Amino acid sequence: MEIVILADAAAVSAYAARCVANQIRRKPRTVLGLATGSTPAGLYGELIRLHRENGLDFSQVTTFNLDEYLGIPRDHPQSYHQVIRQAFLDHVNVQPGRVHIPDGMAKDVDAECRRYEDAIRAAGGIDIQILGMGKTGHIGFNEPGSSLGSRTRLKELTPPTIHDNSRFFPSEADVPRYSITMGVGTIMEARRCLMLVLGAHKADTLARAIEGPVTAMVTASMLQLHPLATIVIDEAASERLELREHYRWVFEHKPSWQQE
Ligand code: GLP
Repeated sequence: MEIVILADAAAVSAYAARCVANQIRRKPRTVLGLATGSTPAGLYGELIRLHRENGLDFSQVTTFNLDEYLGIPRDHPQSYHQVIRQAFLDHVNVQPGRVHIPDGMAKDVDAECRRYEDAIRAAGGIDIQILGMGKTGHIGFNEPGSSLGSRTRLKELTPPTIHDNSRFFPSEADVPRYSITMGVGTIMEARRCLMLVLGAHKADTLARAIEGPVTAMVTASMLQLHPLATIVIDEAASERLELREHYRWVFEHKPSWQQE
């Protein structure tokens, strides 16, 4: 795991955008895993800027979203279909046929999950998976207790996540209770994982994820077993890390030949 501690959200977004842009320049047919939530919003803003000002070309890029709420239609303003379109996809030249998001209205959820896994495989697997981390330590909607080997499936949201996500809905009662999410095992197959974490309110959970034992209680901790995981965080989120100064030193002395 590489831990990159930067001053603030703007620096985190800019750094993460450079990682994604470099990947796309190296491989125009990149398969990009997308996350929603508020954390990657700045990263998407920066990718849009690179597209407009520097000609970053998404025309051959394929995207797979991590997750979707179950039971709300795709034109619902808080469906992840809408959220990712407004935050990112509507502003770059990703071809509509190359965009993949789980269908939250699927009648046969198991079949939809199998179809999603097959589509990822058929695309050649995910090259770089963008991740945020929920306050419960979840990646995607892999809440505490999720199998660390899980695949794309239906997952129940826990009360803290329903509470957190209620800020996007009229009330807590309007937050869907279920989701379709890539599993931890699905995420672990991405060739690179890029997790962004911002804010002091996530500092304790982040310390458990990075420096605690690998546990289903904090599914982000599974990234400790990933061969190429980069965790990009702001100062506030780094507060509880025991090896904080060491991570800083390692990053500052990173050899120029190592990729961003
Ligand atoms: C949701 C999403 C996660 C996201 C998390 C954190 O639960 N399913 O993918 O990482 O929210 O959201 P935020 O970035 O707004 O803190």
